[in-house]
Amino acid sequence: MAARTLYTAGITGVGMSFPEKRLTNAELEKIVETNDEWIVERTGIKERRIAEKGVGASFHGAKAAEQALEHAGLTPSDVDLIIVPTVTPDMLFPATACIIQNILGADKAWGFDLEAACSGFVFALQNARAQVETGFAKRVLVIGTEVMSSIVDWTDRNTCILFGDGAGAVVVERVDEARGGIMDSILHIDGSGGRLLKMDGGGSRMPATAESVAAGAHFIFQEGREVYKRAVKGMAGVTAEIVEKNGYTGQDVDLFVPHQANIRIIEAAQRRVGLEDKQVGITIDRFGNTTSASIPSCLKVALDDGRLQEGSLVVVCSFGAGFTWGASILRWTAP
Ligand code: UT7
Repeated sequence: MAARTLYTAGITGVGMSFPEKRLTNAELEKIVETNDEWIVERTGIKERRIAEKGVGASFHGAKAAEQALEHAGLTPSDVDLIIVPTVTPDMLFPATACIIQNILGADKAWGFDLEAACSGFVFALQNARAQVETGFAKRVLVIGTEVMSSIVDWTDRNTCILFGDGAGAVVVERVDEARGGIMDSILHIDGSGGRLLKMDGGGSRMPATAESVAAGAHFIFQEGREVYKRAVKGMAGVTAEIVEKNGYTGQDVDLFVPHQANIRIIEAAQRRVGLEDKQVGITIDRFGNTTSASIPSCLKVALDDGRLQEGSLVVVCSFGAGFTWGASILRWTAP
């Protein structure tokens, strides 16, 4: 029988990839009845990226993964597990993890997709940590990748202004215990909120028919105000909980990387933990809400900006459809 060992898991590489095409608020004004002032004030979004037609989530996911592997000094053959959190997989099956495995040539990996909407990355990070800690996997790719533009109703101003496309990826592998690595996670689901943020069509209950397409059932539906209230409560609560549970205060946090859904939700969580602006990672202005890609891509931007060093105390947190929400606390271990 294989030995039962507990290792320490840490992030050792990070990457991101976004489509080149920018969609500004001014351009949206030509599509739906909205304006730049409303969007910026209510959401913090100035522009988002939109993938070319026919580009699936695997495309930018694989590019982000390649960058993360290079950063970690690894090759695709070093990877033994690929987890892809996404709500916009290339197709229902096979899994986008398999498609990316094939693109990368990660010939020793197994993998799967994970569906936890905007909390997908946080849920996947904890899964990767557990696999590495038990010794079952040595090097895991977590790839949050989305083509949200493929499920957005471009006639609905309530939702079409919010979302963007892109991908972010991290490598999780064994690190020395003294470096800290991923230290704790708190994860929640509450299915009673499912009706407030969903896509009805395309699953087994409502397969695609001419009627379902005509009814717009294959687009995102959201009761924005209700989701907003729950998101503030969930994100602020779980962030405060993970910081306190691990014996820290807001002052100890070097970087808070929240899911980027709405600047006002982020600010509420920030206030609850007593964080200054310089402690918070923000990319919503340039990328909008990229669902499972928002946290890993924000980590990459923060690293490039020199805001992450060895040992930096990082808190990531999210809230999304399901409802799903959670947070992880870690010491930064990537160069
Ligand atoms: O990422 C996963 C989780 N998702 C979230 O966290 C999103 C949570 N929700 C939100 O971020 C916000 O609720 C939204 C940004 C979606 C909406 O902001 P809000 O402040 O909650 O606005 P609202 O939906 O209450 O709408 C206020 C008004 C309405 O007009 P009336 O009824 O007051 O006359 C809307 O029709 O704003 C109107 N409105 C718009 N006006 C201009 C809604 N969308 C737009 C728009 N442009 N794009």
